[in-house]
Amino acid sequence: MRMVDIIAKKRDGKELTTQEIAFFVDGYTQGNIPDYQASALAMAIFFQDMNDRERADLTMAMVNSGDVIDLSAIEGVKVDKHSTGGVGDTTTLVLAPLVAALDIPVAKMSGRGLGHTGGTIDKLEAVAGFHVEISSEQFIELVNRDKIAVIGQTGNLTPADKKLYALRDVTGTVNSIPLIAGSIMSKKIAAGADAIVLDVKTGAGAFMKTTDDAIALATAMVRIGNHVGRNTMAVISDMSQPLGYAIGNALEVKEAIETLRGEGPEDLTELVMQLGSQMVVLAKKADSLPAARQMLEEVIRNGKALAKFRDFLANQGGDASMVDHPEKLPQAKYRIEVPAKQAGVVANIVADEIGVAAMLLGAGRATKEDDIDLAVGLMMHKKVGDRVAIGDSLLTIHANREDVASVMAKIYESITIADKAEVPKLIHTIITQ
Ligand code: URA
Ligand code: CA
Repeated sequence: MRMVDIIAKKRDGKELTTQEIAFFVDGYTQGNIPDYQASALAMAIFFQDMNDRERADLTMAMVNSGDVIDLSAIEGVKVDKHSTGGVGDTTTLVLAPLVAALDIPVAKMSGRGLGHTGGTIDKLEAVAGFHVEISSEQFIELVNRDKIAVIGQTGNLTPADKKLYALRDVTGTVNSIPLIAGSIMSKKIAAGADAIVLDVKTGAGAFMKTTDDAIALATAMVRIGNHVGRNTMAVISDMSQPLGYAIGNALEVKEAIETLRGEGPEDLTELVMQLGSQMVVLAKKADSLPAARQMLEEVIRNGKALAKFRDFLANQGGDASMVDHPEKLPQAKYRIEVPAKQAGVVANIVADEIGVAAMLLGAGRATKEDDIDLAVGLMMHKKVGDRVAIGDSLLTIHANREDVASVMAKIYESITIADKAEVPKLIHTIITQ
């Protein structure tokens, strides 16, 4: 087999065989195929696309390029949730203890945040002592005993994806449905998921800016998952404005605790219920979505979800008393209000710009090497559709420095106040096989 023939075949719009796709992925991972040939193929795929079978083959070739986590020692259906990334997206922090409280195993491998989106591990580290450096044995033991544990990225997972993603980043080939779908699904499958619930975000703060693009990506991922024997479904949810009110690590932990108490923001709570119900059904703990939702509401009401969060934090070295005393979480030195300069209705809050404002405060990383400040961030007080009078606080800046002029300017730029507003739908649609 020759790489040049595979490139030419895809360039001409023909279908690649399973063997040709594996030849490319293996050869590229091992360094036998140079970057220039891999770039040419990525560009050919960008223009010519791949059919469902090719997409599944690409995904599995990337899964098999490195370690595959074996979760078979954990009893029950391992359902993983994946979000394509957003601003102030606190859902994982709430969902993990919530579904674990229903005896559904949550064996989560998580990452850190980069750019304007946050990472679950960073958020959890706002709880003093909490850490994800646990052994694989301990991880499995904790999930079997308490149904929940989070571990940092271990092993050499999907090296093909790492290499190809870096190449796509500099060759204008990131934005290709078969390549994104294969990239995301290969990581979930390598991490050991039996079933996958995808939260595909759409809007300014998301990777996919339009609903049509989000649906296309979600459909591609759902088909790949089901093609390779992983029950997969997707919820398309809004990320035109940030989710919930809190953006920033400690602030989001506090918001998660409130949501687990049943006192969380309406949008965050609703998204958690939608995603959680799907997870409960995929884990075969309920026959229908309404039944699943009732079970989730019950563990919030009776305190089991919150108790599970305490156990989870304590199991991994965290100070669980923070759940009842959130004032113990890292606190920023300064609180600065951002008053509305005009009266009207909030018409737009550009999520990614607000995410950048939080990053400027130190809540996120511009590069992988950056340190983050767990205490800082933004607490929004108004969401799209809310009325404001002149001088009403739109949000509070939690900062560890006094001069926040650039952050303030960014925030004013990203919030529009008008005569009327169209409130975006939180859940656009649900994609099943
Ligand atoms: N996120 C991923 O993990 N992979 C992509 O290709 C794009 C976004
Ligand atoms: Ca939030």
